[in-house]
Amino acid sequence: MFNIVIVDDYGLVSSEAFKIMRNTLQSSEHPVLGLATGSSPVGLYKKMIADHNGNGTSYKKVTTFNLDEYIGIERNHEQSYYTFMHENLFDQIDIREENIHIPHGDREDMQAECIRYENELKKHEIDLQVLGIGTDGHIGFNEPGTPFDSETHIADLEEQTRRDNARFFEDDINQVPRKAITMGLASIMRAKKIIVIATGENKANAVYGMVKGAKDPSCPASILQDHDDVTVILDHAAASRLG
Ligand code: F6R
Repeated sequence: MFNIVIVDDYGLVSSEAFKIMRNTLQSSEHPVLGLATGSSPVGLYKKMIADHNGNGTSYKKVTTFNLDEYIGIERNHEQSYYTFMHENLFDQIDIREENIHIPHGDREDMQAECIRYENELKKHEIDLQVLGIGTDGHIGFNEPGTPFDSETHIADLEEQTRRDNARFFEDDINQVPRKAITMGLASIMRAKKIIVIATGENKANAVYGMVKGAKDPSCPASILQDHDDVTVILDHAAASRLG
């Protein structure tokens, strides 16, 4: 079941997302958050930082799990998701490093890392999962064709996804990793509440596929049609195909 919120611009999209985040933070003693990287949640993270600084909201009892990480670059690479999350959120709030979970993309035995991460996830219940959506309908790095019952696994990134993300790698697709470790679709579906943030015309087809398309692995985000608490927060461009 989707609750669809359409607002005028990215600032308002981030405010709507923050309202839900604040409710989650206030309604649990030990909140567990599922977090995404990429451009879409950055405005939300800025609002969380401003709220921490302005209102003293503390993250000392918060636990986080990130969706994914590139394989083949070191943890401290400037484009790793580990670095992204520390720069855009963690270094600016009072979260404890030991409560942060991000899959490792630089382990020798990546299969063992997938199992370790999924087991860790299963010890927790995510109260709020933040998602962006890829132009090909991916969530996390679950690319088209990923089975709906997938758990944490190694994904081959689509050419389209690598092209979309080249903007973070000096516009050079050759620098964008070809593989990633990602929570699976079944792992994501275990979250109690989910928000999807999408803006811009280039997301309109993917948003349509998620909300109104066939429920099929060709659009991985369409699995969310089966979740009972998903809020999709859009600007008019991203919502333009919903009619
Ligand atoms: C990031 C992630 C991806 C992104 C998606 C959209 O952790 O899992 O699914 O959410 O690629 O990326 P942006 O927001 O950069 O358009």
